[in-house]
Amino acid sequence: MSEAHVFPVPQDAAANAHIDSTRYKEMYARSIADPEGFWGEHGKRIDWIKPYSQVKDVSYDPHDVHIRWFHDGTLNVAANCLDRHLETRGDQTAIIWEGDDPSVDARITYRDLYERVGRLGNAMRDMGVKKGDRVCIYMPMVPEAAVAMLACARIGAVHSIVFGGFSPDSLANRIQDSECVMVITADEGLRGGRGVPLKANTDKALESCPSVKHVIVVKRTGADVPMKKGRDHWYDAATAGQPVDCPAEEMNAEDPLFILYTSGSTGKPKGVLHTSGGYLVYTAMTHEYVFDYKDGEIYWCTADVGWVTGHSYIVYGPLANGATTLMFEGVPNYPTTSRFWEVVDKHKVNIFYTAPTAIRALMRDGEDPVKKTSRESLRILGSVGEPINPEAWMWFYNVVGDGRCPIVDTWWQTETGGILISPLPGATDLKPGSATLPFFGVCPVVVDNEGKELEGATEGNLCIAQSWPGQMRTVYGDHERFVQTYFTTYKGYYFTGDGCRRDEDGYYWITGRVDDVINVSGHRMGTAEVESALVAHPKVSEAAVVGFPHDIKGQGIYAYVTLVAGEKETEELRKELVKWVRQEIGPIASPDIIQWAPGLPKTRSGKIMRRILRKIAENDFGSLGDTSTLADPSVVDDLIDNRPS
Ligand code: WT7
Repeated sequence: MSEAHVFPVPQDAAANAHIDSTRYKEMYARSIADPEGFWGEHGKRIDWIKPYSQVKDVSYDPHDVHIRWFHDGTLNVAANCLDRHLETRGDQTAIIWEGDDPSVDARITYRDLYERVGRLGNAMRDMGVKKGDRVCIYMPMVPEAAVAMLACARIGAVHSIVFGGFSPDSLANRIQDSECVMVITADEGLRGGRGVPLKANTDKALESCPSVKHVIVVKRTGADVPMKKGRDHWYDAATAGQPVDCPAEEMNAEDPLFILYTSGSTGKPKGVLHTSGGYLVYTAMTHEYVFDYKDGEIYWCTADVGWVTGHSYIVYGPLANGATTLMFEGVPNYPTTSRFWEVVDKHKVNIFYTAPTAIRALMRDGEDPVKKTSRESLRILGSVGEPINPEAWMWFYNVVGDGRCPIVDTWWQTETGGILISPLPGATDLKPGSATLPFFGVCPVVVDNEGKELEGATEGNLCIAQSWPGQMRTVYGDHERFVQTYFTTYKGYYFTGDGCRRDEDGYYWITGRVDDVINVSGHRMGTAEVESALVAHPKVSEAAVVGFPHDIKGQGIYAYVTLVAGEKETEELRKELVKWVRQEIGPIASPDIIQWAPGLPKTRSGKIMRRILRKIAENDFGSLGDTSTLADPSVVDDLIDNRPS
């Protein structure tokens, strides 16, 4: 190992882990040399109704992109997460729910979860929801969110979860795109002691969503919300009289399991489509090996089910493995910044998986809020969502983990379904800031801008050369966009949109997005989406949005705004525009900085030179590069002179 900071696998971790370094090397080599044999074997970790005889049928050829795994097998995902555990662990806790208020929590056994899912599945069927129908879930972090996902899976409906922080408009767009027939929501969410008006937002969204016939509403806070007769049903009333057994739909491995909208570099968010068999095999297997999950352990992923991390590593992976998974409704700093660690102690959490932005925010408060808790139950720590800077890594390792818990820095994407590059706790020596090595079956490739594969220690664009079972299958309703986005930039590869460095030990260091996607507190935003929200304001004529380095959020949102002629650049309007974007997209899209830009740097053909705008946003005026091709080079000086400090 060449780098100064290397943390070797602890002896006891290696001895007791599912995978040690010898086994990793053997299994990895086999997974690449013989993917059919490898996945043919590991596909058996889940229960199939009709076993598959075919393992892999994949083409990355832009003329014929198709991705199929286990495609003559049939199964039911919910039955894999519930029914098959009943005999051996029916009374084991499946979900520990920790409410926003520290005095509120609940434990749900596998049998209880099976029954709740059955009741809701039956209620949904009674309302006419059938196999293949899309159902939107717009929920707070309550157990009913997981119940709703599994009930969809049970009856073969395709869920589309929309994060509770999205606005009515964003919700409406997503519902319309996939023509959902039902929305499952709550009266209100509760985060950090504050209500989130989910039902009110749903009502507003549904004014423009004729496909939705029924709304099921979980009572969370008891807020007074209007219920529309014939359309809206209280969850408790709808499920109360239903039988607990709900026959599981027999699904093909390639039948859709869910759609999840995510931002791209252009246009509106894409409906990333994941299917049933390969996704479940991949999330279950990565959950077991990456977190070295052992029977009986308490596992906590702090994500929201509105993001892919919640799908794969709060619900599907852990429940397929019969794990005990903790669902947290609240936020890291409520009531105090000790909350995470108090929850760890309260529920004796063994494996803790969170995001760098949370770690950085908590670091600001110093060690005391951490050190006054025990955390002795912790064994493994995990990080996801954005690059973790070595300083945050060291704090996580030393302060949170007391220097004894390996950190798995897991790199993956909504599109990948599960973790692709990550250490395995018993196998991989750690380097702070590196996602380290590929998971089984994953073949990372670094290419230059012309698509030439680079060898050895190098830096470039990260692609993946072979399919893995958890890969997305298409963009819902727009296969051409799927092909264009991921398979045309670099022929023969899946293009991730990330840049990366590979060091002399073959370790991968993700350097961030190389496209117009930014990562704000681990939330993915398309700059184009924020721009179109801004220009929708009557006083804005043009807008250009870029990311800039932000101490806590990783990246912040920097917007250059040109007003329509005659409008005044006032502080009041600045505030109004921030509020406007929050309303259009949601709070996560709030611009951190708005700079008035009487002109934007454009080429003579009218293309905005974002490279220059990024540099100005980064306060890096020394390396603006060639500005001579600009239609009006003087706008650059003006932007520099007027950059808000
Ligand atoms: C983008 C995907 C994967 C679930 C959460 C985000 C960035 C993610 C890491 C990591 C460096 C990371 C990448 C990726 N990212 N994990 N461990 N190290 N970067 O899913 O919203 O689809 O975003 O998040 O840039 O492309 P997502």
